[in-house]
Amino acid sequence: MEGKILVTGGSGFIGSNFIRHTLQVKPGIRIYNLDALTYAGNPLNLVNLPESQQARYCFIHGDICDARLLKDLFQKEKFNGVIHFAAESHVDRSIHGPEAFIKTNVNGTFQLLEASLAMWKRNGQQSDFRFLHISTDEVYGSLGAEGYFTEKTPYDPSSPYSASKASSDHLVKAYFRTFGLPVLVTNCSNNYGPYQFPEKLIPLMILNILEKKELPVYGDGKNVRDWLYVIDHCEALLKVFDEGIVGETYNIGGGTELQNIQIVHLLCDLLDAKLGRSGKNTSRNLIRFVTDRPGHDRRYAIDASKIEKELGWKARFIFQDAITKTLDWYIDHMDWVNSVQSGEYKKWIENNYGKR
Ligand code: NAD
Ligand code: TYD
Repeated sequence: MEGKILVTGGSGFIGSNFIRHTLQVKPGIRIYNLDALTYAGNPLNLVNLPESQQARYCFIHGDICDARLLKDLFQKEKFNGVIHFAAESHVDRSIHGPEAFIKTNVNGTFQLLEASLAMWKRNGQQSDFRFLHISTDEVYGSLGAEGYFTEKTPYDPSSPYSASKASSDHLVKAYFRTFGLPVLVTNCSNNYGPYQFPEKLIPLMILNILEKKELPVYGDGKNVRDWLYVIDHCEALLKVFDEGIVGETYNIGGGTELQNIQIVHLLCDLLDAKLGRSGKNTSRNLIRFVTDRPGHDRRYAIDASKIEKELGWKARFIFQDAITKTLDWYIDHMDWVNSVQSGEYKKWIENNYGKR
């Protein structure tokens, strides 16, 4: 990876981890981060970059649905690649308000493809250009007790979120088949790690345990997810961007299948050990089984053999170690948590970028 890369959604959970990681391991790279700073996008995630990296990082406050902004940006800058994270990403929110998911995930991806295609053609179909679309294993729907998602598993999305991501995947692949735009698609399993917005299972449970709040477990708690540490995901994305074959899809997963209730038990136990809670004070007493999520997929599990065999990537982090690192990060960054929860960063956005 060399030159100028446009990252979309770089102020969110995975995007900000990716930018930090990439600036560190790829000294020849300049990153432009285009982010609308929705509730999930937090500029504080990237404020304290090492000084030596700051000159290689540029933030652009904007919406991927804004065709005019994209046109101007792609006319001004000749990008060597686009790495597309920007999305509405939370299943529960997509159930309560699907429209934002269609706007950003479908229309926004379409606008980004159009702007990329125009730039790529204008520059004589530059051979070094790549469009990497970051997607999810949720497009494949739900597994039963057996089997794994491969790149050939038919799409069968259950939620407005996964349906909108499936739609964006199809658009991206169509721009390869129809126009020859050099695209790559990755479908990854559930990520965890620092800077994840505390609406997703792991950070929500960590913070509720710390605050002695109830721990809402949907249904019987036996739904299974395949957990991957976010840095493993970032390393896989760099591999795919650098060495993947254009037009191809790569599934990314850690092979750590756990039921939700196992994760919640583990987080309770790890935090109880740190906080000295035991007996009747054990955090497991905070667990509440609540009404299930509608359309709740039972099990996700990735067959990552393609990326492992063809690109030599393999998840490096052991779940037990990385989950401990993650909960230590939340304990050590309560200022970040407080700012995200209090809306302080919204004020910071208004002061720095103006009201939108
Ligand atoms: P996130 O919700 O933490 O971050 C999304 C980012 O996109 C935010 O910074 C937000 O401000 C920005 N954004 C939203 N709408 C925008 C718009 N219209 N224009 C510009 N920016 C906009 O999400 P995440 O968990 O970091 O996920 C990033 C990507 O990875 C998503 O595409 C998601 O589908 C995919 N993914 C996530 C996971 C996971 O476990 N979190 C797993 C597999 C794939
Ligand atoms: P989530 O982190 O929302 O990711 P996804 O739905 O994309 O997999 O949820 C992970 C699992 O945890 C999912 O099976 C739903 C469940 N869950 C709960 O049981 N309680 C909660 O409060 C949340 C947020 C999720």
